[in-house]
Amino acid sequence: MNKEYEIIQHQYDVVVIGAGGSGLRATLGLVESGFKTACITKVFPTRSHTVAAQGGISAALGNMGDDDWRWHMYDTVKGSDWLGDQDAIAYMCKEAPNAVLELERYGIPFSRTEDGKIYQRAFGGMTTHFGDGIAQRTCAAADRTGHAMLHTLYQQSIKNDAEFFIEFFALDLIMEDGVCTGVVALEMATGKIHAFRSQRVILATGGHGRAYFSCTAAHTCTGDGSGMALRAGLPLQDMEFVQFHPTGIYGVGCLITEGVRGEGGYLTNSDGERFMERYAPNAKDLASRDVVSRSMTMEILEGRGVGEKSDHIHLNLQHLGPDVIEERLPGIAETARVFADVDVTKDPIPVLPTVHYNMGGVPTNIHTEVITKNPNGDMEIVPGLMAVGEAASVSVHGANRLGSNSLLDLVVFGRESAIQCQKTIKPMDTQGKVNQNELDQIIGKFDSVRFSKGSLPTAEIRAEMQSIMQKHASVFRTDELMQEGVEKLSACIESFKDVSVSDRGLVWNTDLIETLELENLLGQAIITMQGGQARKESRGAHARDDYPNRDDENWLIHSLGWMDENNNVTIGSSPVHLDTQTDEVESIPLKARVY
Ligand code: FUM
Repeated sequence: MNKEYEIIQHQYDVVVIGAGGSGLRATLGLVESGFKTACITKVFPTRSHTVAAQGGISAALGNMGDDDWRWHMYDTVKGSDWLGDQDAIAYMCKEAPNAVLELERYGIPFSRTEDGKIYQRAFGGMTTHFGDGIAQRTCAAADRTGHAMLHTLYQQSIKNDAEFFIEFFALDLIMEDGVCTGVVALEMATGKIHAFRSQRVILATGGHGRAYFSCTAAHTCTGDGSGMALRAGLPLQDMEFVQFHPTGIYGVGCLITEGVRGEGGYLTNSDGERFMERYAPNAKDLASRDVVSRSMTMEILEGRGVGEKSDHIHLNLQHLGPDVIEERLPGIAETARVFADVDVTKDPIPVLPTVHYNMGGVPTNIHTEVITKNPNGDMEIVPGLMAVGEAASVSVHGANRLGSNSLLDLVVFGRESAIQCQKTIKPMDTQGKVNQNELDQIIGKFDSVRFSKGSLPTAEIRAEMQSIMQKHASVFRTDELMQEGVEKLSACIESFKDVSVSDRGLVWNTDLIETLELENLLGQAIITMQGGQARKESRGAHARDDYPNRDDENWLIHSLGWMDENNNVTIGSSPVHLDTQTDEVESIPLKARVY
């Protein structure tokens, strides 16, 4: 067994999988605390998807007007449609100012106000005085904030001697008696197998936007950590909540930052009407993303879309003038020119709601430790395994994330994972080698994909999955639509048994990597669909035509979805934390969302 593979054993205190904002912030915190840390990543760190984050990172610094972290917390709970855990939200919003100032000290080149403070712009759903005013809370480095963050965190990690395993694809978690003791990865350039034994594994593998046909996410966003968690018998939480960003470029999906509307841009329909004034009289174009995406979709469905097919909407920023655009929004001006052939100083950008973010993921407690349900029905920690960032559901975003809370989530909880390691493990506690039996099982499973001799190319199955998700788990949902989606997706998953991998090599075998990624996506897709069908209410990004109201009596719960080795899905639930667990701030009581 395994004779073909050269197997290299490693021992670390902590292995971080993924080098986006959360993975790098975790890695940096760990090396600064003296842990021998490996960060393994399938792409070069500064090419991780965080690089595409444009608008900024939220924090109640109050540089551009009054602000208070408690207002930020209120907005985040309301934005989450009360599905967010209030202990985690209180912690994130309180920590936000420190987290951003820490980034500034690490070297992020934030844009500046006249008096040299960090520049902050308005963003959807961000208010002052518990909903009364518009907050300028989103700290920006022009419209390339994620880019600036990634480069800074990577440079700091290298300076502190973090060890990077770049272009390594994580195959599976090593689980021994329910404890995570490491991970096995493929070195893509050589085909060597690397077995990492560690005291903790941190999943920082991002979201799975590529389950859909049109998304703002990079092609690499295949949720590999969540795929591994599912195969390890762990649940995924709140997967039915998929965020559509209102302004993806029509036809190509590239992100046009909400920062455009934060700087004064607005949406219009075919009558040239600023229709958001009708749907959200107070917040207008800066209502939260679920509200704006649904309003745009309604305009199109009612025949007021723009373009030859009346199937999209216009985003106007011409009136901002070339100077503001050049200083604050240079990146999107270039993106619009390249991908939509639009000069934004003269013409509107054609846009359409586009899949942007997964609120769901691997469930964790506030300290980023992965949790699961034990046989008594209680949530308990999975020893050795942690998760951060979009891969995780901690849950600070609940049913809908506010723009610019994602970069904040990455750094606050990336840092928290390192703090929790300081509290629970000691540097250099020996771990021994990876158990041969575990290794054989993982390699056996890898070989079953590598030597697939079916008749269906990976791309064909992937295209089918993406088209099903786009149609059956979209902005508006019904039982019938989702039931049909479950049936089609189940057939699509079944068809994976007939997948064909034509390249048998081990050196840069992209055919094989894409097939492994597809396997990860399929599990996440079916849990999204079944979770959505099960949830008989409308909340946040989950809008059901047949259940138009939020139902707190029956559905103020997180959903949990498991998939067994025969691809059977079980949907369960766990309680939402309404208690903030701190005397510093009271819980935000349940009420209807009004914009
Ligand atoms: O619109 C944006 O710039 C995206 C930000 C976010 O998703 O947080």
